[in-house]
Amino acid sequence: MRTLDDLLAEGVDGRRVLVRADLNVPLDGARITDDGRVRASLPTLRKLTEAGARVVVTAHLGRPKGAPDPKYSLRPVAARLGELLGTTVPLAADLTGPSARSTVDDLAPGAVALLENVRFDPRETSKDAAERTDLADELAALVEPSGAFVSDGFGVVHRKQTSVYEIAHRLPAYAGDLVLAELTVLRRLTGDPDRPYVVVLGGSKVSDKLAVIDALLPKVDRLLVGGGMCFTFLAAQGHGVGDSLLEADMVDTCKRLLGDAGGKILLPTDVVVADDFSAEANTRVVTADAIPDGWKGLDIGPDTVRAFAGALADARTVFWNGPMGVFELAPFAEGTRGVAMAIADSEAFSVVGGGDSAAAVRQLGLPDDGFSHISTGGGASLEFLEGKELPGVSVLEGS
Ligand code: 3PG
Repeated sequence: MRTLDDLLAEGVDGRRVLVRADLNVPLDGARITDDGRVRASLPTLRKLTEAGARVVVTAHLGRPKGAPDPKYSLRPVAARLGELLGTTVPLAADLTGPSARSTVDDLAPGAVALLENVRFDPRETSKDAAERTDLADELAALVEPSGAFVSDGFGVVHRKQTSVYEIAHRLPAYAGDLVLAELTVLRRLTGDPDRPYVVVLGGSKVSDKLAVIDALLPKVDRLLVGGGMCFTFLAAQGHGVGDSLLEADMVDTCKRLLGDAGGKILLPTDVVVADDFSAEANTRVVTADAIPDGWKGLDIGPDTVRAFAGALADARTVFWNGPMGVFELAPFAEGTRGVAMAIADSEAFSVVGGGDSAAAVRQLGLPDDGFSHISTGGGASLEFLEGKELPGVSVLEGS
């Protein structure tokens, strides 16, 4: 796989380089609530600008329906990227149209510009490879004749989309530093991890995590399950779960997993229940086999936090994906905080797998440096651990 350093060794002074970054940040209106992915894109961008490249960044935000939608504009991201780079980052109003062409023409060596949301063009995510290739031709034309492509959006490498996949066939393609760093860390988890190897899974749905549970169970020493998905496991143990999240069609699957696990799966022994999904709700801590009708479990309880912390204390390798409760609401944040602190306190090589768990680390004010690596990829890191082929990585390996 050719890397960013290989490209720099070839020389990029004055050349146009197209970078795919994952700048898909959570927004509250136009305010970015967690800029972790913007920050994670900086090392590659800085290396390129310092070497004199004219850097054209392409990225997506959210899941617009293949047409411009102001709600998904990358404008707030361009502003934040500019602040972090200490320069103005112009945002082209389109992807490959007149605004993109003039923005790219105006780029000086060492400068960075951002193209508007790549998913405003339906060809980006089209099922038709010819349509995706057509868009790749237009993107490539922006940086040709001496252009190159750097794939640095680790969070999207599991997507077979134009700006991740087809473009790497159209231009000389290189893996950026973020993609390389993420792959190095995840390979440590799938190779021969130091033991005990403990995985902590949360989030709302078992169905989303089934493939990764199946893939991980034979490899891990312990699998701790919290978050909304734990209630389907509790139901599989025969407990009533009140109004908690329940995937009724997954109960038999959870029974099978508990049977296969040979005691490796640890479930909550107590939960925080509430009479409403709100920060003002009445709450109680109850044992996991006594969730009252009409109440819903929104966090793991304090005994569970102690038990999970105990199971993490001697871990040598930890992977964590998914919050333990509704951490965005203060009454239900302690489970996630407690488990995150236990991971941070352990001596383990610890990886936080993207999405909500990475946001939880930052929103709860937990120390970033308590973890060995905070991944920028939610779905991408899970698919890697499932053993699936990641199109955005295999295309680089073949280039
Ligand atoms: C993510 O948020 O996991 C990545 O940015 C990928 O987004 P997607 O799931 O909409 O493809």
